[in-house]
Amino acid sequence: MIKKWWNDKVAYQIYPKSFCDTNGDGIGDLRGVISKLDYLKDLGVDIVWLSPCYKSPLADQGYDISDYYDIDPRFGTMEDMDELIAEAKKRDMYILMDLVVNHCSDEHEWFKKACEDPDGKYGKYFYLRDKKEGELPTNWRSYFGGPVWEDLPGTNKQYLHVFHKKQPDLNWENQEVREEVYKNINWWLDKGLGGFRIDAIINIKKALPLHDYEPDREDGLSSIHKMLEEATGIGEFLSEMRDRTFKKYDAFSVGEVFNEKPEEIPDFIGENGYFSSMFDFNETICGGSDKGWYDCRKITPDEYKKCCFETQAKIGDQGMVSNIIENHDEPRGVSRYLPDGECTEAGKKMLGGLNFMLRGLPFIYQGQEIGMENVEFQSIEQVDDISTLDEYKVALEAGLSPEEALKSVGRFSRDNARTPMQWTDGANAGFTSGKPWLEVNSNYTRINAEAQMKDPDSVWNFYKKLIALRKDPEYKETVVYGALKPVWEDVHNLMAYYRKGDRTLLVVGNYQKGPQSIELSHGYKKVLLNNYHELSENGNKLILQGYQFLVLEV
Ligand code: GLC
Ligand code: CA
Repeated sequence: MIKKWWNDKVAYQIYPKSFCDTNGDGIGDLRGVISKLDYLKDLGVDIVWLSPCYKSPLADQGYDISDYYDIDPRFGTMEDMDELIAEAKKRDMYILMDLVVNHCSDEHEWFKKACEDPDGKYGKYFYLRDKKEGELPTNWRSYFGGPVWEDLPGTNKQYLHVFHKKQPDLNWENQEVREEVYKNINWWLDKGLGGFRIDAIINIKKALPLHDYEPDREDGLSSIHKMLEEATGIGEFLSEMRDRTFKKYDAFSVGEVFNEKPEEIPDFIGENGYFSSMFDFNETICGGSDKGWYDCRKITPDEYKKCCFETQAKIGDQGMVSNIIENHDEPRGVSRYLPDGECTEAGKKMLGGLNFMLRGLPFIYQGQEIGMENVEFQSIEQVDDISTLDEYKVALEAGLSPEEALKSVGRFSRDNARTPMQWTDGANAGFTSGKPWLEVNSNYTRINAEAQMKDPDSVWNFYKKLIALRKDPEYKETVVYGALKPVWEDVHNLMAYYRKGDRTLLVVGNYQKGPQSIELSHGYKKVLLNNYHELSENGNKLILQGYQFLVLEV
């Protein structure tokens, strides 16, 4: 594998709306991000991915862009953005923007012009079809519910949106659209960005001609996945984008890629892959259901382990995957992957450690470093996320009571991760001096950054140690590039693996409340990390406490 500048980095995702508000309007802003760069540097972060802060109606919280060349006034100004890039650079840090180009906003001027003249230049920027009474062009269900077709205002046509109706899909088959996208990427890279996280990118290639698929629910619609499975040729778009943009700048790119086939790994993230890296979503998909979130279930520790190892085996040394336990689309990892009632400090550190030490690039989502947890929603009124609102409806339609529906979909709500960052135990968790746009999680007096930074045993300080280990000149080569070899794979509630490079490390997590022993076939040289103060041993036997996590040099 050819080594790249970003291989040994640690990345951190910021959801700007909920990170830090500096002007009291209840909405996080870029000046807030600038004010926290030293915090991130102190933790050891190198790469900062910002969820979208472009001009947007915020129908999907910025994933609906109305101007790719401007910053939304709620987040700040272009001067703030330039300052952020410059301040990051001073600290040897890199800023990634979110590239949202499967769709734009229905308030983008391209879309407005398409409405004015659907047969003209801009009509061809979108997927438009003639409207037929009582019949839709295709029977696909949008990710956020309902059909993917909506009337194109003022015309006798309909447009395609695989996400929300305020997110019309761009027609990537049109070379002019692609040119616009490349121009914009390069414009941002010229400003000094480190690169991009690439949103929803597998959706850009549609199976043509557009047609119906077997319905999979009572609504008579079909999930988009069937169409995506059938679509071929996305590689042509993605390699063109790479060659015209990222490659010329040696920029970092990480794709939001689902459903890739094992044989496609080199195409996506190999030496000349479309992207530098892509996220592993194997764990997030596990436990899912075609019926909707209400029917999804919590995965077990053994399943979690299996998912991680499957991905590791699939990728091997062909490239670098990006590892997460959560992001702005997922519930909090500690609430999701630790058994109910066992979301303890030890468990949080273990989960963080097991994930962080996998081969690949670690991404920390804001608040993960302090062990932020899911929200206990009392009412659907507390929910803002369009996806949760739709899933709630689906659950009610399936016959669940409002209480059951809230409980079942609340666990998976994207708002679990979108509540304001908990900085202090003061008003609004120190996020804003005004009224936060989304309620602060009531546990902020117990879980906040200020307290944890002072406490040597905190989750925050444990993350700091994990990061320091990845950067330690003695172990770096092994932690970054070393092969991963699972061990004791069949042992229930135990996740363990070797990392083998110029050193050999053994990473072990006792993924349960009760103790568990393991028998080493060899001694060990050194304990590099331990989430407990002690380690009980008996000869070659290690007696692990509940959720004990160790990194040993062997
Ligand atoms: C991605 C984003 C998600 C957004 C969707 C549509 O999955 O991560 O937040 O809603 O794309 O842009
Ligand atoms: Ca603000």
